[in-house]
Amino acid sequence: MKLYERLADTLGERIEQGYFQTGDKLPSIRTLSQEHGVSISTVQEAYRLLEDRGLADARPKSGYYVSPQNRTPELPSVGKVIQQPLQVSKWAHVLHMFNSTNSELVTWLSVALPNLESSTLKPLQSTMTDLCRRVGLRGLAYDRLNGAEELRHQLARVSVDSGCQLSPDEIIITTGCQEALSISLRTIAQPGEIIVMESPGFFGSLQAIEASGLKALEIPCHPETGMSMEALELALEQWPVKAILTTPTFNNPVGHTMPDSHKQRMLALATQYDIPIIEDDIYGDLSYSYPRPRTIKSWDTEGRVILCSSASKTMAPGLRVGWVAPGRYLQKIMHMKYITSMSSTTMPQLAVAEFIAQGGYERHLRKVRAQYKQNRDRMLEWVARYLPEGTRASKPQGGFVLWVELDERIDANELNDHCQARGVSIAPGNLFSASDKYRNFIRINFAMTTDEGVENAMRIVGEEVDKMLA
Ligand SMILES: Cc1ncc(COP(=O)(O)O)c(C=O)c1O
Repeated sequence: MKLYERLADTLGERIEQGYFQTGDKLPSIRTLSQEHGVSISTVQEAYRLLEDRGLADARPKSGYYVSPQNRTPELPSVGKVIQQPLQVSKWAHVLHMFNSTNSELVTWLSVALPNLESSTLKPLQSTMTDLCRRVGLRGLAYDRLNGAEELRHQLARVSVDSGCQLSPDEIIITTGCQEALSISLRTIAQPGEIIVMESPGFFGSLQAIEASGLKALEIPCHPETGMSMEALELALEQWPVKAILTTPTFNNPVGHTMPDSHKQRMLALATQYDIPIIEDDIYGDLSYSYPRPRTIKSWDTEGRVILCSSASKTMAPGLRVGWVAPGRYLQKIMHMKYITSMSSTTMPQLAVAEFIAQGGYERHLRKVRAQYKQNRDRMLEWVARYLPEGTRASKPQGGFVLWVELDERIDANELNDHCQARGVSIAPGNLFSASDKYRNFIRINFAMTTDEGVENAMRIVGEEVDKMLA
């Protein structure tokens, strides 16, 4: 991050926190230059950036003032969810989205892809090339059923950051988080049984529920604090729920995070009803602040929480390296892993292990966390600038996806068709529920907002929304 960007972020945060109110005069260029030990031109650049972000206005011969309008969109509304278990049947929609994601002409705001162009991923790439020469036949053989020892060792070490104390033997390597989630579901529930999950929630989890013949009972979520504890309690009281499936930290698609007290309450409820929690922590390490939020698993003393994650969002999805820490379900999940895919591919496991061991992962996280935070702010500005007034958006504190609520008259599937015709894709909201909800919502990716094409893509989305409303 450049000096002027850091200074603009600091001032922006002070404005957001109300330290400077609308209409207040901001510190002079000279004062800031002396206070922060930076040049006059750095401060000028920072103020220009704040103007672009809609936070400050320049008044000739007077200085800079906090912009009169707060351009941060309001948070999305909480969905009214039918509290009844539903059979999921959205595969055709999901397939349509995947099938249409193969054109290079399109700006993919629809996919939850991290920034793969970050220079901090270069060491991972060279480790992979290097390993091909170094490891010889090991790379061509089956590794252990629970995965490469080196990787499990590194993952156990890193898990301390989320408050866990895992040993390498408590971890099974999987082919991405998707496999971790689906083998967990298939292990703990039988066809026809009910799984509680967030609404809106990740469509891959919904598909895993469908493929296992299970039913999804969706619980409404607050855009900042996640699953409603009251609604969860009611659902557990009313229905014979088999497990809770949750992404409590920087959830996909909203980006919300359950406060610690809610995470502990959820664990207490799971204990009361004697059911497991499948915790998807795939975005957890992408927290904008340090230390990152704790996992529910970190309070689990009974092996009740099955923690699933992967390198797909924090490093790269093409590695297909995921893992599960199954607690008391270890042996059963190991068997399910065996009958599903035996062991996972060896080389990427070794590369990820080495990347972590050599400090590359930590360096990479430091860089992308700061970048994604900045990108989020930029994307929120574009939502305010290019989408009609009244558009609402979430404000994640980690990860790189944004949940946007459009005017009720907008059908996001139709909007996506119009946008794709102009080279932009968005993820329509109804993919994220088993019901027909969220038709006027979209999920957009902000991992790459430094790319000029992304601002233009947002302009196009805005124009198409305007046309549909006209
Ligand atoms: C919340 C969530 N869980 C799981 C997955 C699947 O991850 P993987 O690519 O590691 O299988 C994704 C991917 O988008 C996700 O967003």
